Amino acid sequence: MPRTIDLLILNARQLLTCASDGPKRGEAMTDVGLIEDGAVAVQDGEIIAVGSSAELAARYESRTTIDAAGRVVTPGFVDPHTHVAYAGDRVAEFEMRIKGATYMEIMAAGGGIVSTMRAVREVSEEELAAETRHRLDEMLMLGTTTTEVKTGYGLSIEAEMKLLRAIEQLHDAHPMTLVPTFLGAHAVPPEFKGRTDAYVDLVVEEMIPAAADWYKASSFARQQSPFFCDVFCEAGVFDLAQSRRVLKAGLARGMAPKLHADEFENLGGVTLAIEQGATSVDHLDVTPPDEIARLAASDTMGVVLPAVNFNLGSCHFADAREIIDAGAALALATDINPGSAPTPSMPMVMAIATRYQKLLPAEVLNASTINAAYAVGLGDRVGSLQAGKRADILIHGVSDYRHLAYEFGKNFVEMVIKDGENVSF
Ligand code: NIG
Ligand code: FE
Repeated sequence: MPRTIDLLILNARQLLTCASDGPKRGEAMTDVGLIEDGAVAVQDGEIIAVGSSAELAARYESRTTIDAAGRVVTPGFVDPHTHVAYAGDRVAEFEMRIKGATYMEIMAAGGGIVSTMRAVREVSEEELAAETRHRLDEMLMLGTTTTEVKTGYGLSIEAEMKLLRAIEQLHDAHPMTLVPTFLGAHAVPPEFKGRTDAYVDLVVEEMIPAAADWYKASSFARQQSPFFCDVFCEAGVFDLAQSRRVLKAGLARGMAPKLHADEFENLGGVTLAIEQGATSVDHLDVTPPDEIARLAASDTMGVVLPAVNFNLGSCHFADAREIIDAGAALALATDINPGSAPTPSMPMVMAIATRYQKLLPAEVLNASTINAAYAVGLGDRVGSLQAGKRADILIHGVSDYRHLAYEFGKNFVEMVIKDGENVSF
């Protein structure tokens, strides 16, 4: 007698499991776990079996059956580095850059992150959540079912706490799974101009303890979902010693380290991230070969953000090819934010990474699913189609998975299934 279950997805022309019991490295990045004429069985929001359609159709009866005939089925995308919680926009800076100003010049002149800080300080928690909810909806419709979300546009205790509360509110109400990261050390706010160390004191002594208390009482803690602490380690922002102080203070309060490193100048951030046991180190645009080798020998995930280079009009990209070939674990992310990467789209990131970072379609898919899940500490729950994982599943209107990176500027996602429910709209 076939067992009756909640959901069966049958007849996928290609079903990509992206299955792995740890972050994928090297050759494994070219293996997407392809099953032809594949099927997935779901019960209580969880995947219970993956296999051929014939096998699963014989084993199960389902209350709901989805015929994915001719289509590609993948895990939901995981976006492991975002600043999606913000208010306002920076369209004026977009024009300034077109006319020749650089991102760091605009930041040094009091624009950039600090201009979004002003916008975030002015809005209520409700307004902040509403603006962010709209962007999460866009991400979801483009296939992102789990996303990391950083604070970092408050830069005062009150405003950073407002961001954390908005993130929790959205996690509780939105279909997407959110993973919070405290990024109080994103920029030095105007009231601390020229006194970076004093601002780091505030982050370490007051903001991190407040953030840790917030986490303890939050739904994230109840769900045993991780909480990260991040720093923008960059020349003219936070140096290596200041970054180390912040990461250590976070660790002491149970926050796992992440780091923005080597976006514009190499300060040794990768080495610092590894030293602190960081879950990921992100950007890596100017990381030298010896630090890539160190990354390869570590458990820290390298996250590259090629939509930033694209958006800043640069033809220089992180050497993701070398990162994989050296044996490091690599993930991709949008970095969605109003300054350096105003895009909600993981498929757009895949399109850029294949062309300018010379990654294969299979590699960008693993980097956007299973490895991205490990980059946010949720590799045991999401990121692949494997029994025991959340049923976060995409049905794409293509017949060959390589089209997901080959064609660009359109949305192939026909159905987004989150925790076993169709959440497409
Ligand atoms: O990852 N580089 C620092 N932080 C963001 C940009 C944030 C912003 O410009 O608002 C990034 O690129
Ligand atoms: Fe970032």
